[in-house]
Order: sequence, then structure tokens, then C-alpha cells
Amino acid sequence: MNLYTHIQKQDKETYKLLLAEEKRQAEGLELIPSENIVSQAVREAVGSCLTNKYSEGYPHARYYGGNEVIDQVEILARERAKKLFKVPYVNVQPYSGSPANFAVYLATCNPGDTVMGQLLTAGGHLTHGWKASATAMFYKAVQYGVKPDGYLDIKEIERLAKKHKPKLIWVGATAYVREFPFKELAKIADSVGAYLAADIAHIAGLVVAGAHASPVPYAHIVTTTTHKTLRGPRGGMIMVTKKGLAKDPELGQKVDRAIFPNLQGGPHDHTTAGIAVALKEAATPKFRTYGKQIVRNAKALAKDLMAEGVELVSGGTDNHMLLMKCGVGRGAIVEIALDAIGLTANKNTIPNEPSSPFYPSGVRLGTPSVTTRRMKEPEMKIIAHAIVRAMAVVEDEQLPTEKGERKAYLASVKKHAHANPALKKIHAEVRQLCKKFPIPDSFV
Ligand SMILES: Cc1ncc(COP(=O)(O)O)c(C=O)c1O
Repeated sequence: MNLYTHIQKQDKETYKLLLAEEKRQAEGLELIPSENIVSQAVREAVGSCLTNKYSEGYPHARYYGGNEVIDQVEILARERAKKLFKVPYVNVQPYSGSPANFAVYLATCNPGDTVMGQLLTAGGHLTHGWKASATAMFYKAVQYGVKPDGYLDIKEIERLAKKHKPKLIWVGATAYVREFPFKELAKIADSVGAYLAADIAHIAGLVVAGAHASPVPYAHIVTTTTHKTLRGPRGGMIMVTKKGLAKDPELGQKVDRAIFPNLQGGPHDHTTAGIAVALKEAATPKFRTYGKQIVRNAKALAKDLMAEGVELVSGGTDNHMLLMKCGVGRGAIVEIALDAIGLTANKNTIPNEPSSPFYPSGVRLGTPSVTTRRMKEPEMKIIAHAIVRAMAVVEDEQLPTEKGERKAYLASVKKHAHANPALKKIHAEVRQLCKKFPIPDSFV
């Protein structure tokens, strides 16, 4: 089916690029844990006439006319999110996860206030106070880490919270394979009077499916992206919990003001419609089965990789992702080898990273997208075996200690990987697997 007939007629260059990307996605497997594949229904919403509209403000209080329908779309998305996550207040306007998080700072802190979050190199997100993020430029960020076993260091978090008395504590991460201890973090936040914000960008779909505990009883605010395990369009949401409203009855309005007019202008109404459609899909029994299968697949992939000798951070996973230890600074080399066999993954830091965030020592894998393609445990075994064989091909490659030589070295590894006969053979097997599990159109 050609979804791009108009683009084909009027813009050959863009048309060619879209077809190339469709092919890449169909003929390879996406193992990046923050990615997924949306339904055609979500794509239709995102490509709808709603992209033509300006609607600064909120339902029934807009700065532009003609928003009667848009109001209903936004209310529909909000109501569905409230019901699904069991929260009393939702803002569906954040352009993505990062602005959603920045709005939480604006709603709860003053510039210069102390905040706490998980260190980027220990799996945390940039927006939780990493030094290169605006969040650390405008707020005093204290960072916490994980223990050598990969679990959050609760005692250290408590010690830091008591010492620094932060106004806001983040729980949530971008590369953390264990269940988040929301209850323990809430105890710490409450003991110092801090807001607890749970960033469930990665695990939102698992929470909805009952495959991960919900932070809603424990946190004051919950943020999420809508495009990861939740399987919606690229966007974000901020939810205020009952506990949040009990701490500050004005918190919902403060969040709304933080998004507009503090941080953003007009909402992306086409995305809001896509979020509404995705939330309806996520409320189905099929989505519960999907979320649970994501975790079963991740656990199976972890077991199969370890059985073939791969070392994983924390020795396994509780959620949708795993972190392979690849040797000091070798994450990019393994990423290249996997790319050459049609598996897309990303290099990532590991706890106590011995190299650097740019040349890290791990590779992050995830199962949301392959589970959307309806793969199960037997396919995880095939993927694990392909990964192990690809890693073996590059096992003697070593990142140069001389920093200036690294870029050219990795370019040469890439060139050789794509011409390597052993990797080409595995790539053909991956293509066969993809053919057996085409990208589905619909999930309901
Ligand atoms: C935990 C977490 N929070 C926030 C974000 C930011 O989302 P976005 O990239 O949509 O701004 C991410 C994205 O990777 C994330 O993993």
C-alpha cells in the first residue's frame, strides 16, 4: 500500500527518503528500547487536518477562534489518560518528554533550588540534572547513582536527600533494568518535604499493562513520553496525582501554566489526537497482553544472551530493556556490528562507566518494537544467537586510546563490518525473520 501518493507526485526527493526508511524499518529489527511502531490509526491522526490549527491555551480558554473541535480532542485525550493511569489531573500538551520534565521544574521550583535525580552515566536522563542539560544550569542538581549490582542505592539517596534537602526528587531513568522502588523513594522525598516526580517515559506501557508497579500512589507528579512502550505518537504528558493535589491543591494549574505560557506556545493538536487514539488502544485487553509479553521477551533475551556468555548489567532485567557489557569503550563497535546484521541498538554507558558517555562500554537492547511485531520467546533465542555471533566477529576490535584516532577507526570498523561475509550471512537470516514477522497495521 502506498501511503505517500501525494508526496510521490510533488516531491520525489522526500518520497525516496520515506520509502528508504520504510524499507529499513521493515527489513531490520528495532532493538532500541525507547522506540516502537505505532498503528496506522495513530499515523492517520498525526497526519490529520489537526496540524492546521493554532490553539494556544486550554479547552474553553483559547487565544484563537475555531477551537470547538480541538477542545473536544484535548478533553478526550486527557480523560482517557486520567482513566488509564488513575490520576485526577493530566496535561497532554508537552511537545515531548524533555519539555514535560522542564515544566515540572517550573511548576515546583524556583531557579537556583536544589533538585535530585539519577546520574546520566548510571542510567538517568539528561533532564534529571545532568551537567550538560539546562536543568543543571538553572537548578542546583545533586545526582545519585546505582550500586555495583545495578540496583538504585537507596541508602545513598536517603543520605543525599537529608544532606541537600532538595525541593524536587526524580525517580525514573533511561537505562535502568530493574523495577523502580517508588515506595522507598516516596518515603525519602516525604521525609525531606520534597516533591517526588516519577518519569515513566520508558515504562508507561508496562505500567498500563500491569507489568510494572505504578508510581501513582507514591509520586506527586508523573511525566511520560507517549512514543515508547505506550506506543503512541512522539509527545509527552504530565500527570498530577491525588497525593500531589493533597500537597498543593494548585499543582494542576501550576503544571498547566508551566507548559503554557511559561515554556511552550501552541499545542500540537494532531499529536494530541494521536495520543487519544493510542490511549484507546492501550486501554484494551490486547495491550495488557502486549505489555506483559514485552517483559517476557526481555527476560528471555537476557537469559539466552547470558547462556551464550554475554555479561549483562545487573545480571538480567525486570522490564523491557537490557544492558550488555561489551568491554571498555567497545559499545560503539558492537553497535556497528549489530547494525551490519540489521539489528538497530544503541551504545550506552554502564554503571561506573570506565570509558566516557561518547565512547561507552555498553549496548542497550529492548523488546517493545519486536514484541509489536508479535515476536515471542523462540524469536528472542534467534536474536540472541545472531547478536552473539556478530559480537564474535568484532571481538578483537579495540577502541584506540588516542582520542584523535577514534572517529576514523570506527568509520573503518563500519566499512569492514558491512562487507564482512559472516555478518552478511547473519543479516540474511535477520531479513528472513523480519519477513515472517511483518509490521502490523492494527493492534486492536
Ligand atoms: C526517562 C526519560 N525521560 C525523558 C525523556 C525525554 O524524552 P524526549 O526525547 O521525547 O524529549 C527520555 C527520552 O529518552 C527518557 O528516557
